[in-house]
Amino acid sequence: MKEENEKFLDWIVYQIYPRSFMDGNGDGIGDLKGITGKLDYLKELGVNAVWLSPCYKSPNCDNGYDISDYRDIMDEFGTLDDWKEMTAGMHERGIKLIMDFVANHTSDRHYWFKEARKSKDNPYHGYYIWRDEIPNGWQSVFGGPAWEYNGATGEYYLHSFAVGQPDLNWENPKVRKEMADVIDYWVDMGADGFRCDVLNFISKDFKKGKMFDGPKFHEYVKELFGREKVRGIFTVGECSFGKEGIPQICGEDRDELKCIFQFEHFYIGQEGKFCRRPYKIDEARDILVKWQNFYQDEDLPYTLFTDNHDNAHYISRLGNDGKYRYECATMYAVMFYLLRGIPFIYQGQEYGSPDPRYSDIKDFDDVETFNYFEANKNLPDVMDRINYGSRDNVRRPVCWNGGKNYGFSSADKAWITLHSRGEEVNLERDVNSEKSVFAFYKKVLALRKESGAVRHGRFTDLTAGEGYFAYERSDANESILAVCNFENPKSIEGLPCGEYLFGNGAKRRDSNGSYAPYETAVFRIKR
Ligand code: GLC
Ligand code: CA
Repeated sequence: MKEENEKFLDWIVYQIYPRSFMDGNGDGIGDLKGITGKLDYLKELGVNAVWLSPCYKSPNCDNGYDISDYRDIMDEFGTLDDWKEMTAGMHERGIKLIMDFVANHTSDRHYWFKEARKSKDNPYHGYYIWRDEIPNGWQSVFGGPAWEYNGATGEYYLHSFAVGQPDLNWENPKVRKEMADVIDYWVDMGADGFRCDVLNFISKDFKKGKMFDGPKFHEYVKELFGREKVRGIFTVGECSFGKEGIPQICGEDRDELKCIFQFEHFYIGQEGKFCRRPYKIDEARDILVKWQNFYQDEDLPYTLFTDNHDNAHYISRLGNDGKYRYECATMYAVMFYLLRGIPFIYQGQEYGSPDPRYSDIKDFDDVETFNYFEANKNLPDVMDRINYGSRDNVRRPVCWNGGKNYGFSSADKAWITLHSRGEEVNLERDVNSEKSVFAFYKKVLALRKESGAVRHGRFTDLTAGEGYFAYERSDANESILAVCNFENPKSIEGLPCGEYLFGNGAKRRDSNGSYAPYETAVFRIKR
């Protein structure tokens, strides 16, 4: 890997969903001042980068992923000065800032769209995708038809997501120039990188009937990020590809993206978004091993994540968030975050936040959830499905302590119903417990910082059976051995012996021997 890319393997990213992280001004909504007040906390955890979900002006039909002004801050989140203060505070602490770049669509309240919809000869009309008749049966990702009628022009516009998120027409060079200017604006302001929202949607494949993965994709991405000014910055694309596709988008000679989110392990145990199917954690292990080997051979950075703002918590979907919540949360920390790649930790993971549960749809907020509910409300188990699949599972305010609004806000009421398990599972309680997920995360991240083998060394799979995952990360100085047992007690043999570093079970142990459910342990083998 080129040296300038190799350094991205030193990044440890924490994702902030600003609406739910911390309310700094007492109006019930998380904001930038709230984030600024928690920077020492992030430093203590041991992360050195933040991915901030959108904080731009937005009418919030999709919580900020519908942007009405790319160059300004959402009223509820504060001002550009707040953003500057937050960013300066991050940089002082050695924390990089990754902004969310929503390129596929704007809000329907964006000036461009308000103009575009007025008439066919409006200068902004060509910024969006219009048809006189509905050309196909495309369904939006959030449910319902993807074409919406516009009275003033008698046409239909395309929205791959919500009705309030019209797709930009990337075929139009003016649009591409506008979006490049947006990138440059934030780079000039001090942003260190971009997480690129549904990036593979920017090129449509009308011939093949797909709203994404169109033929111009690579051309557009290169035109945007291959420019001299931004070539070196960090970029991660929300766009999953197969083995052939990855070197095409992340290859060092391509000048497109630095890395992408690979989602295969993310959807285990799901049938569509809202239904369960039986799973084994071994499936996740096999996927991780496959991609570890692949990315290692290609010498490209992989991304390591279990949670984000779009799905239920991994420990609730694919593990145990009851009796073994601590064990499961810490086991997954070792299973993912000592691998080769760039860790992404979603807010709340670090204290083992599980999914909440509600019996009333009124306790939800998300557009995707509402659309699903509307379409399925006659099903007897609809609330069960909502509780399982809703994105609001991970969008409840962070529970900082057991007090009012769990320490999130001094307002009478937060913007969304609080976490139903906030009294039992909150950061303060976790930190004061013998079994602290937070303390464990600190150990994992500290080891990552300290060990060159973990950051840049080779990955070797040592698993020789089902029900667990054992792997080694090695360089010329040492090997770090990680052992993760899954849900059943198990005796594991045949592993190399090493010095015990930490684990979530007994105070000290050997690498071989019997493991309790979700037990994990980490060892060092000196050369
Ligand atoms: C991405 C985001 C998601 C958003 C959608 C539309 O999938 O992660 O939260 O709703 O794009 O922008
Ligand atoms: Ca606020």
